[in-house]
Amino acid sequence: MNIHSYEKLWLIASMVLIVGFIATITYGAVGLGITMVGDDEPTIEPGELSDDERFGEPRVEQVGENEYEAYVVAQTFIFQPDVIEVPANSEVTFYVTARDVIHSFSVVGTNVNTMVIPGEVSEMTVEFDEPGEYGVVCNEYCGSDHHNMEGQLHVIP
Ligand code: CUA
Repeated sequence: MNIHSYEKLWLIASMVLIVGFIATITYGAVGLGITMVGDDEPTIEPGELSDDERFGEPRVEQVGENEYEAYVVAQTFIFQPDVIEVPANSEVTFYVTARDVIHSFSVVGTNVNTMVIPGEVSEMTVEFDEPGEYGVVCNEYCGSDHHNMEGQLHVIP
């Protein structure tokens, strides 16, 4: 066995572990009545995202005077929309799902940080008071270009 095969073996072993942990957390927690990911959101077919009312066209929608909803799709190796634009002094609810594999949606410098799982919708509400520009990154290893997977969040004046 050469080094490359060992590497592969470890990679597979760690993947199995990761999937196992996630399964434990996601399903174990639901069993205990604690909810981790999108438990009040219906599941969706990742293959049918293009036809989905919310995720067919990833976007930001105004739903109240200062309230917005952002529908975001994560996929290898981009976020859609790649620039999320919301006004300052707004309350934004993010709905994020994944098209292919597990990603995360993490807005650098804020407490917005959620795992994004195909078929599930992660939801979180955040207030943005000040204008600013944030990077959006993926914290879950998702493939060869994981480290380049990034988007932007602009809070405009
Ligand atoms: Cu997407 Cu890492």
